[in-house]
Amino acid sequence: MQNMFKSRLLVLLIVAVMMLLSACGSSSSSSEAKAGSGGSDKLTIGFSQVGAESEWRTANTESVKSAITGAGHELKFSDAQQKQENQLKAIRDFIAQDVDAIVFSPVVETGFETVLQEAKTAGIPVFLADRAVDIEDDSLWTAFIGSDFVEEGRKAANWLVEEYKDHEGDVNIAELQGTVGSAPAIDRKEGFEEVLADHPKFKIIKTQTGDFTRSKGKEVMEAFLKDEGENIDVLFSHNDDMAIGAIQAIEEYGLKPAEDIKIIGVDGVKGAFEAMADGKMNVTVECNPLFGEQLVEIIESHLAGEEVEKRIAVEESVYTMDQAAELLPDRKY
Ligand code: AHR
Repeated sequence: MQNMFKSRLLVLLIVAVMMLLSACGSSSSSSEAKAGSGGSDKLTIGFSQVGAESEWRTANTESVKSAITGAGHELKFSDAQQKQENQLKAIRDFIAQDVDAIVFSPVVETGFETVLQEAKTAGIPVFLADRAVDIEDDSLWTAFIGSDFVEEGRKAANWLVEEYKDHEGDVNIAELQGTVGSAPAIDRKEGFEEVLADHPKFKIIKTQTGDFTRSKGKEVMEAFLKDEGENIDVLFSHNDDMAIGAIQAIEEYGLKPAEDIKIIGVDGVKGAFEAMADGKMNVTVECNPLFGEQLVEIIESHLAGEEVEKRIAVEESVYTMDQAAELLPDRKY
């Protein structure tokens, strides 16, 4: 009788120890804590987007949102309206709601260490979409999907070098930069200047931010024209929206865009194809915003415990005005 009592006590003890061990395992504080929770389960995903500043952004928001909901997951969306403080708040809200994953496209490159550390401590993986962060500790984010902005800047400059290969004398460039401190503004400028460093005839005589918007692009181009007028040979705009705004300013000033001033944009949005088909813009360097489905697959794989690549680049091209009319009907964004 005493023996039977002892063996029952032993079984109870073993069960209690096993329960304790499994409880300890589930309260791990690393960002891998949620990995292995099952890729096919319904997930709750928080998405903090930059804003709605451009045609590109609208297409990107739609791509990511529809991929998340289309896969049957719950989406918590927040528009930062181009303000970092809104983005910090949104990420903290997602952490408080204990989402399964956070997707965010950082407005600027710096200043996210603390909040990303908070996400890591809470065991929530963070996926960078479109824009990267400038952070020493890469373990604070799980994966990045987006474009190589430096390469986009190089492509823009390479087009220019080719276009002016027989030209002697200086070529004066006005540059419309994207949002100050943002990855695309920093990197596109870097890539563009890197190529032009070997071609001293190209001179950037004006450069200022137009914050990636049409209205600012127009306003800043008006100021450039007031200062330099017909001295400007080329406009390099960090996105198509600012280029489209600038085209309006050039026409109002009485010059012909694409002829008197060559226009280079980045993104490859429909608006740029329309401008090129109308003979008002010379070239656009593609920046593909339609990576929503790929992003969701990466999140699901990570949460299913699979290894995912740290950096995933999207494929992109360069389009010139002579191709525009033919390609316009099939442009997806
Ligand atoms: O981060 C991508 C850039 O952001 C796009 O080129 C621009 O249009 C957008 O605002």
